[in-house]
Amino acid sequence: MVDEQDGASRRLETDSANRARNRLSGARIVVTGGAGFIGSEVTASLLRAGVDVKVVDDLSTGRMSLLGSAFRFGLTDRDVRVVDVRSSECADLIVRWRPDVVVHMAAQASLPAALRAPLVDADINIRGSVNLLQACVQAEVGLVVFAASAAMYGQVPPEQLPVTEAQPLTPSSPYGLSKATVLHYLELFQRHHGLAHVALALANVYGPRRFGSGGGVIPKIATDVVHARRPRITGDGHQTRDFVYVTDVAEAVALACTGEASGLINIASGKETNVLEVVETVGRVAGADIAPVFTPAVPGEARRMVMDIRRAREVLGWQPKVDVGTGITAVVRAVHAAQQGVAV
Ligand SMILES: NC(=O)c1ccc[n+]([C@@H]2O[C@H](COP(=O)([O-])OP(=O)(O)OC[C@H]3O[C@@H](n4cnc5c(N)ncnc54)[C@H](O)[C@@H]3O)[C@@H](O)[C@H]2O)c1
Repeated sequence: MVDEQDGASRRLETDSANRARNRLSGARIVVTGGAGFIGSEVTASLLRAGVDVKVVDDLSTGRMSLLGSAFRFGLTDRDVRVVDVRSSECADLIVRWRPDVVVHMAAQASLPAALRAPLVDADINIRGSVNLLQACVQAEVGLVVFAASAAMYGQVPPEQLPVTEAQPLTPSSPYGLSKATVLHYLELFQRHHGLAHVALALANVYGPRRFGSGGGVIPKIATDVVHARRPRITGDGHQTRDFVYVTDVAEAVALACTGEASGLINIASGKETNVLEVVETVGRVAGADIAPVFTPAVPGEARRMVMDIRRAREVLGWQPKVDVGTGITAVVRAVHAAQQGVAV
């Protein structure tokens, strides 16, 4: 499965990926959260671009096994440090490594978990980020690329969709608030210390290496349907999301690392998909017709979300390549493979 996925990732490489490779070859980049779902894809993609990559991750939700492709592209055990971004050890590593770029993906990444434990979310996402930014200043890092989130925009009135980067940040969840707070810190560190940044407001990211109960809308539904369970849907299923495929996100991060753009940039598909459509597509791909179970809506979750991606096109030369049907097919295949005991 991993090899199949490496093949798929390679096929998805495009002109913009080549551009990133040309500009990044030889650069030194630290990826925090590099053993996570998105971070591991980013790490592999940067290594393919000839970057000297180091990973910092406490493995709280990340897994070394997700770095399989990265190890095949030259990552070594010494390049991966199991440390907490809130720690002085992490700060010391950044100062010692003195990377050109830090890609900051380490986070408490779950909106429902942040609702249950806002203090933990703030501690990891805000305090951890500030610790890292201070170290970046000390290490004279050239650029921080931050994994921000669509959750920063909160409940956007329908007439203001698709949401642009000019939208006021009015987060409606502790998770969205912690991401928005870090964005303000980034702006402050840029003004006070000249630390450059790009903040990528990621939509709902999905892909084959994340599935099971903790995995987000598409992976959860795919896992339930493949295991012949009725998928559990929060709310009435008519809520919409903007789903973006993980390899597209990794490509956007690599392009952001070139330093040609700055500020906030939406990374999304630009397409609005409702959850019931996901259930239907998963069912069709999996060859199963299973009715969902409806559970209460999660407070703080947006009713509708679709993002304007013109800025990403203009300043990064990026656009998504994987449509939601193709992406869902990849996820369903991965769930099938895992069910049959094939490692992912
Ligand atoms: N998945 C999405 O849909 C999505 C959407 C918007 C933004 N994001 C952001 O993208 C980033 C990556 O998310 P993901 O979906 O890959 O989640 P993930 O949980 O797979 O990745 C987060 C990584 O950070 C690590 N981590 C957590 N706390 C840490 C700490 N204190 N110190 C060091 N490492 C720590 C985890 O072990 C994990 O490897 C996060 O910043 C997340 O908020 C994700």
